[in-house]
Amino acid sequence: MIEPTGDDATTMAPAGYRPRVVDAEVGRALGAAGWLVLEGPRACGKTWTGLRFARSAIRLDTDVDARTIGAVEPAALLEGASPRLIDEWQMLPAVWNHVRHACDAGSGRGLFILAGSAQPADDMTRHTGAGRVRRIRMRPMSLFESGDSSGEVSLAGLLNGEPCRAARPAAGLRDVAAMLCRGGWPGQLDLPLPEVQQNLRGYLSEVARTDVRRLEGQASHRPGGVERLLASLARNTATEASNSTLASDVEPEPLHRHSVRAYLEALRRLFVLEEQPAWSVRLRSRAVLRTSPKRHLADPSLAAAALGADPDRLMSDPSTLGLFFESLVVRDLRVLAQPLDGRVFHLRDAAGREADAIVECPDGRWLAAEIKLGGPDAVDAAARSLLRFAAELQSDRLDQRSALVVITAVGYGYTRPDGVRVVPITALGP
Ligand SMILES: Nc1ncnc2c1ncn2[C@@H]1O[C@H](COP(=O)(O)OP(=O)(O)OP(=O)(O)O)[C@@H](O)[C@H]1O
Ligand SMILES: [Mg+2]
Repeated sequence: MIEPTGDDATTMAPAGYRPRVVDAEVGRALGAAGWLVLEGPRACGKTWTGLRFARSAIRLDTDVDARTIGAVEPAALLEGASPRLIDEWQMLPAVWNHVRHACDAGSGRGLFILAGSAQPADDMTRHTGAGRVRRIRMRPMSLFESGDSSGEVSLAGLLNGEPCRAARPAAGLRDVAAMLCRGGWPGQLDLPLPEVQQNLRGYLSEVARTDVRRLEGQASHRPGGVERLLASLARNTATEASNSTLASDVEPEPLHRHSVRAYLEALRRLFVLEEQPAWSVRLRSRAVLRTSPKRHLADPSLAAAALGADPDRLMSDPSTLGLFFESLVVRDLRVLAQPLDGRVFHLRDAAGREADAIVECPDGRWLAAEIKLGGPDAVDAAARSLLRFAAELQSDRLDQRSALVVITAVGYGYTRPDGVRVVPITALGP
């Protein structure tokens, strides 16, 4: 059995590798499961994180010989020191079963790391020995990982009910607008913003032209339709827009609802679209709870690029800035909650009581957050709204409550006299 040491001297860790929140989870999974699958949108860092832990690697996207050999004899691709990274494995889907057989045959752990940016169409990846494979979701970097958050306030600490305190961050609102336009793409952190935004427009059209077609098959696929749907998703970021709203919002002419459904499914499987489900909970008043998910692109920078929005334009359009900021915070909460196995929901009832984000752990602990750009009045209103919402909960859920939190773009971090925590996103860490 090979125990991952995480020792850079013996793995293929690329020079300049910045630590990821997911690293600890990958290390643990290699010690506990036969093999693991790293999945997430293009360019979020899967290959580098795979290499960080691998002792040998094969890349099916760039290595034509490997693909040729693998097409005849997939087992040949499996030979090498473990953990062995098989990158872009979905280019040769037969690899899946070979890896599975190799791992099911023995009791070895941490044998393979498969990385890929698309979930294959058929369901073969579901047929796997229970407990032998671990799926780990990767996302673009959170502000903590890109070095834009001090991490002074720990999400785990908030979920443990700890009070919080953070110095006033150096970043102002326009800086935060620039961070969300730049996004958490690890390969683009050092580029000037206009270059990043141009690359992201290219990214979106590549998704529309190539990636969706690969999943969808040629016949029904219109790249222009997918690109226009991406713009519609961007305009509806962090909202519960229905499929028909999205379809009718596609410019210049609406898309057919069947196309919308198929394209949304493809974008989900490419990890470009990620939904934030509604929290299921019972309220005292039995008020009707909304059940529709909110929609987000994988990173707020994609929404900004799709709409051609730069920081100056966002500063003059506070409502769009507010929704994109909400999307940024949800991305970060997802990344930071992942080591705790936490999931991110939203909640809204028919009477308009809401929480922009709920983070819930498997043991039942949860926190509710309102996401606001900042300003004392907005923070005060958000805190009161969270307290009103909490008063509506059944007592069993109230007992499990960890915290009510207002997450802001700017300002200090502190605990209010009413117990509500106020945390700037540039201070939030794991
Ligand atoms: N942890 C990291 N620290 C520093 N830079 C990173 C890190 N991870 C990725 N990068 C940078 O980002 C680039 C893209 O990362 P990577 O190739 O790992 O993404 P990917 O998810 O495998 O993308 P694709 O889906 O296109 O294969 C890398 O070439 C590297 O420059
Ligand atoms: Mg890769």
